[in-house]
Amino acid sequence: MADLLDKLHDRLAQAAALDAGVARPLETVFQRMLGPTVAEIDGRRTLVFGSNNYFGLTFHPAVIAAAKEALDRYGSGTTGSRAANGTLTAHRELEEDLARAFGRKHALVFTTGYQANLAMVSGLCGPGDFVLLDNDCHASLYDAARLSGATILGFRHNSADSLRQRLRRLPPDGKNRLAVVEGLYSIQGDLAPLRELVDVCREEGAYLIVDEAHSIGAYGEHGRGCVEAQGVADEVDFVVGTFSKALGGVGGFALSDHDAVQGIPLLARPYVFTASGGAANIAGVRAALHVLMTDRTLAPKLWRAVHRLRDGLSALGYRLGPSVSPIVPVTIGDFALTLRAWRALLATGLYVNLILPPACPPDSCLLRFSCSAAHTDAEVDEALALLGKVGRELGILEKA
Ligand SMILES: Cc1ncc(COP(=O)(O)O)c(C=O)c1O
Repeated sequence: MADLLDKLHDRLAQAAALDAGVARPLETVFQRMLGPTVAEIDGRRTLVFGSNNYFGLTFHPAVIAAAKEALDRYGSGTTGSRAANGTLTAHRELEEDLARAFGRKHALVFTTGYQANLAMVSGLCGPGDFVLLDNDCHASLYDAARLSGATILGFRHNSADSLRQRLRRLPPDGKNRLAVVEGLYSIQGDLAPLRELVDVCREEGAYLIVDEAHSIGAYGEHGRGCVEAQGVADEVDFVVGTFSKALGGVGGFALSDHDAVQGIPLLARPYVFTASGGAANIAGVRAALHVLMTDRTLAPKLWRAVHRLRDGLSALGYRLGPSVSPIVPVTIGDFALTLRAWRALLATGLYVNLILPPACPPDSCLLRFSCSAAHTDAEVDEALALLGKVGRELGILEKA
């Protein structure tokens, strides 16, 4: 008879197979961060190109100072949810600054980006409603839809036509419809066609939520993300995002001009039944937001690193995804070869993200790079030199 623990034993066996050898993809230990782009791993200085630390703000002096000050003022933790233990001024200040920075009426702060998605989708939708997800949506958005109890429908990745067809086939019985997409997709680094998606939602009577986890700061004149860059910010009902990438902290947020969004903290379980973010983290994020929205040199530095890395990878002969974004996916293909390449890179001092099924098709395993404004030209060049060496040694690249 099957046992409750079987699933865990199976998973552990799979992980052990993957982890055999020196470098452990599922358990890489960062002993120390030597800065936003360099870590100590296995006692070795390692370049980090897999962090989502898009602006390198984790070590910004203003961020560190704000976090230290908040630690002294509020202590180490909140020890409960805002519904039960109350809101810190730090949470309030961050919500006010987020609303101002993104030009929105309302901003809500959540404990993680994952919980922001859970809270928003499950707070908005319920049984009988319809949640329409782009097929490539992040796991948190799928989980959010499940938690809502609504009927979940997928539509073809980045296809407004597919969304339209799905919406048209729904029964015209006045049930709510919420379409869910990302601004910049987290694995392939491609952008959503937001103009078309907004138009379809309007025509077919659906609300739209856009997850900008990977796009704030890098896109739009004011760094407000893909909705700003594509000129649809005023037409998107809800934007969600995370503090754990561009803003160098932990937490999530939602933005909206709908006054009703203020009801989410009253009923969404992922808001009510979990502890709120600690003050040091929240104050650090607020400082990071200020830096991101005022330092106009950051985005150009990020794009410089993106172009330098992409150009170098292409020149070496690597297969890159077509979309130019701070996420650079490099397809290696075969599972075993991708794993070997990842291990060899780590062993020579380069950390990137290893993407294996189910996060990609079985024959399209990839190495995912995320660029940072903090990556210097010298660091990009050093990474490329390691990639050239490893790629040739493993036969991924032709030997010169
Ligand atoms: C698109 C997307 N949404 C949401 C999340 C969740 O964010 P967090 O790590 O803050 O929980 C992530 C994190 O990887 C993400 O990539």
